[in-house]
Amino acid sequence: MFAAVLLLGCITSPKAQDNRLSEQIGNVKSTKAIVGGYEIVTTNAWVRITAYSPTTIRIRISQQLFGEDHSFAIDSLMPSSGLNEAKVKGDSNVLIYGTDSLTLFIKKAPFSISVYNKKGEELCADDTALRVSWFGNKVSCYKKLHPDERFIGLGEKTGNIDRRGAFYQHWNTDAPAYGSNTDPLYSTIPFFIGIHDQNVYGIFFDNTNKSYFNFGGGADEELFHFGADDGEMNYYFFGGSSVTQILKDYTALTGHTPMPPLWSLGFQQSRWGYDNQQQFLDIAKTFREKKLPADVIVSDIAYMDNYKVFTWSNRFPDVKGMLTQMKQMGFDMVTIIDPGIKVEPGYKAYEDGIANNYFAKYPGGRTYIGHVWPGSCHFPDFTKPAVRTWWGNNFKQPYVNNGVRGFWNDMNEPAAWGKEFPNLIEFGEGKYKKTLYTVKNVYGLLMAKSTYEGTKAAMNNQRPFVLTRAAYSGVQKYSAQWTGDNVSSDEHMLLGIRLLNSMTVSGVPFVGTDVGGFIGNPTPELFIRWMSLGVYAPLFRNHTCINYNYREPWLFGEENTIKLRKILEQRYQLLPYLYSAFYQAHVSGMPVNRMLPINYTFNEKVYDEKYQNEFLFGDNMLVCPVESNKSVADVYLPGNSQWYRFSNNQVYDSGSHFVVSPLDDLPVFVKAGAIIPMQSIVQNTKEKGDGILYLHIWKGNEKCSFVYYEDDGETYAYENSSFYKRNIIYDALSNSLLLDKKEGNYTSKFTKVKIVLHGFGKGVEEKEYAYKDESMIIRLLE
Ligand code: GLC
Repeated sequence: MFAAVLLLGCITSPKAQDNRLSEQIGNVKSTKAIVGGYEIVTTNAWVRITAYSPTTIRIRISQQLFGEDHSFAIDSLMPSSGLNEAKVKGDSNVLIYGTDSLTLFIKKAPFSISVYNKKGEELCADDTALRVSWFGNKVSCYKKLHPDERFIGLGEKTGNIDRRGAFYQHWNTDAPAYGSNTDPLYSTIPFFIGIHDQNVYGIFFDNTNKSYFNFGGGADEELFHFGADDGEMNYYFFGGSSVTQILKDYTALTGHTPMPPLWSLGFQQSRWGYDNQQQFLDIAKTFREKKLPADVIVSDIAYMDNYKVFTWSNRFPDVKGMLTQMKQMGFDMVTIIDPGIKVEPGYKAYEDGIANNYFAKYPGGRTYIGHVWPGSCHFPDFTKPAVRTWWGNNFKQPYVNNGVRGFWNDMNEPAAWGKEFPNLIEFGEGKYKKTLYTVKNVYGLLMAKSTYEGTKAAMNNQRPFVLTRAAYSGVQKYSAQWTGDNVSSDEHMLLGIRLLNSMTVSGVPFVGTDVGGFIGNPTPELFIRWMSLGVYAPLFRNHTCINYNYREPWLFGEENTIKLRKILEQRYQLLPYLYSAFYQAHVSGMPVNRMLPINYTFNEKVYDEKYQNEFLFGDNMLVCPVESNKSVADVYLPGNSQWYRFSNNQVYDSGSHFVVSPLDDLPVFVKAGAIIPMQSIVQNTKEKGDGILYLHIWKGNEKCSFVYYEDDGETYAYENSSFYKRNIIYDALSNSLLLDKKEGNYTSKFTKVKIVLHGFGKGVEEKEYAYKDESMIIRLLE
């Protein structure tokens, strides 16, 4: 029996490949049903096609027999749906598989896949000549390029938001002072969305080796392709009928962000160079004295003893006392952590790592050494579960027990001075052994995961805030991400907006840039403009490199401090709206910051280089970034609705407009009919404020709704129904506002609700009510 199976294996197994020439997938030789779909053997490969939902189909192609199925991004790889096969009479050259939403036509000779929606429209098809090919171990998938096709996504990538015509690589890289076309940067999100002929589709190429995406770059205008230096052609095809549905399906697979700690959405003041306990207390005190709202002071590497992670330098003689005083002033501290463990006998983390075999090694067993801040370092092998647990446990004593609740993971591409880590360094053991080549793009993800899981366990049901520089798809389950070492320039400020909006349309909602630019000294104008954009970034953090000027807001002079105060106050007033937007990201993957193609997918104006930096902040606000040296902005207001300027209620029709934009008035617009919950000015997120929820409504013509969400902002009790959620519906026809009965067991921090009407009468009208849990109907003014 065993011999017979082996023999059968020989007959059907794809032939060995010739490394000198490219090799194609070949013809279908046999098919069989498997769990969730079908397995096909072709002349040169094995193929598995399975369904994860009616709109999500996985295609897995390999020249090796399929081994254990594994993903760093996806927790459960079991297909949760199935494919049906349709028989076509008289055509033996085609296989047809389908779900309720999608149909796959597979040509047998040679093998090629085309995916159609239920209307019979082609969403995506293999290029008929090249299909899936190998060159040595390098695998590529060639797809037909439609004449009007655009591409969005791919995570933290420079360039235009429409990726058509561009080429990108994924190879997580420390890229200080990157330029506006530098590629690759710090993270890998191999997920993009194609848009053509009034249709959309998405592809997630879950391969962690160095990978390539060519969106029709070069002379050939008939195909685009993606591939990797090694591994399987393993991708998920998303055929939902809108960008929103594709994001839903992609995040159903790779995970959603947990609700962030509310304090992490406050303003974060950071600098590489804050280096002693008194300095932290002085900065905290000054923010409060000057009435500049803020929640966090970030501690960069200088807090450590000789840059040894999990230690404090003696410049911090009473960490607990410092944190207690900071907390009394309403501040949290975030501490940085790097993966490099200093090679120093006697240092606990080093000794633990050596004793337990926790560090990455050269083949043959010598522990790899790279040079980073502490000098010679070893690097934890985060692919090993035991290392992840050890890493996570290390946070308790030095940080969590002293009151630190935020953990900033840096240098995790991983980075080492002046050289690439050799690709042959080994991670894992036994059948899980991998080289750096496969692990590099996920090293940051695994570090962030270890940090999140360890600190969550240590924090007794409190939510940790984790921030990372390097990442891979799925990072949203563990961490926020920032865009690394940017530069103090207008160009970088706008480039940063595009990076953020591309990261969020690629499934990572909690993102930010170093406001003001990490490298360089921003002019006061640039700093103010960047800060005013920071209000509309999920992560709002001002950070500077040690070689440049101090940049606390009060250092820009009295007049500018007034402007900066107003900016910070606005962020805090908007927190109920921002937190509700995060709830959407948490449940459905719809990000807080949305590039306009999410809502206006087929409107070519939104891809225009002039307007491509504009984005929606939550459901109802449109932000139009402007350079610091311009006081008039050319803005485009999409859709059919009217828009109100947020700052002065001036009404605009959709279309292009020139609007004034002095430094203290970024052009931000609110959609007619919008409902925006706000709160009184507070100095930090722990302050209660006046107990009033300000529900701002801008007059419109249609029914508009908003899902308001609140919870304790600190613990995971929301997972057990301890939240406060209600639908709010503004009905323009009956001129009324309905606050549905609240859902969940949490008691709102607001006891009153004030309805603030814009555009209803001459000025802004306000009326206050008790904020009841039962359903409330309020008639609005004529
Ligand atoms: C890296 C980080 C930067 C940090 C510096 C020192 O360059 O990207 O944010 O300040 O290291 O830790």
